[in-house]
Amino acid sequence: MKLLNLGCGHRFHRDWVNVDFVSTGDGVIAHNLTKGIPFPDNQFDAVYHSHVLEHFARRDGEAFMKECFRVTKPGGIIRVAVPDLEGIAKEYIAQLDAVTAGNVDKIADYEWIMLELYDQAVRSRSGGDMAAYLFQDRVENLDYVYGRLGNEARQLREQHQNKKSKVTRKPKGSIRSLFRLPSFRGILKRYLLAGEEQPLAVGKFRMGGEIHQWMYDRFSLGRLLQESGYADVRKLSALESSIPGWPDYKLDAENNMVHKPDSLFMEATKPLR
Ligand SMILES: C[S@@+](CC[C@H](N)C(=O)[O-])C[C@H]1O[C@@H](n2cnc3c(N)ncnc32)[C@H](O)[C@@H]1O
Repeated sequence: MKLLNLGCGHRFHRDWVNVDFVSTGDGVIAHNLTKGIPFPDNQFDAVYHSHVLEHFARRDGEAFMKECFRVTKPGGIIRVAVPDLEGIAKEYIAQLDAVTAGNVDKIADYEWIMLELYDQAVRSRSGGDMAAYLFQDRVENLDYVYGRLGNEARQLREQHQNKKSKVTRKPKGSIRSLFRLPSFRGILKRYLLAGEEQPLAVGKFRMGGEIHQWMYDRFSLGRLLQESGYADVRKLSALESSIPGWPDYKLDAENNMVHKPDSLFMEATKPLR
């Protein structure tokens, strides 16, 4: 079986061909997927991507899905996981109803679901306000946040707390500051960029692959799969799949724990002809 995991990040299995912007581990191929998929037609029995499609502008997403179709073997499977717009929108309405009915205990949950809905699309610095929320010393609705984002949120918070406790203070001052020499960055900022530095930094960040540029629900993702050429579109759970041995790869869940519980999981098949 030839299996392809696109935008794998740090979650990959060595039985798969794994691709990401930068190589995140042994054998992970570094490639920008907006430039196409670097393999010939009809190569893979299964093509999978998780929480990648929403990082492309809508048009680029359509081109990317057509590329997935091209490299899938006839009879092969595509599996896509994305944040579930329908689930997030329903949760937002539920929390809005709760807070407007005067349920003050739900204000923190409401704040969080607003972040989930918007921050991932509008942020201009890594982690955005979601990370800032998660990294507060005290988070009053941690169980709710972990329930929404799964173990990954727990690990992120723990890593942040461990890092914080290890921080040592750097000695103040450097040779350059001692003799008051301007840095190259200082010169660039003062004379060449004159006010352009921040917009350039924001633009660079927003094109760097972290933010969400579009979102999908079971209708729009199903339609996109069909328009890309796939048939037999189905919505599944994290553990269900037509890919033989799927749970063993531990890509969407491990020990029955779903990595990204906010996800929509869908599969479809490339027709034989
Ligand atoms: C939210 S992470 C998901 C990682 C992994 N698939 C998972 O489910 O945990 C999105 C991944 O897509 C990658 N990515 C986004 N845009 C990309 C592009 N144009 N080319 C290659 N990789 C891209 C990012 O580098 C990142 O690793």
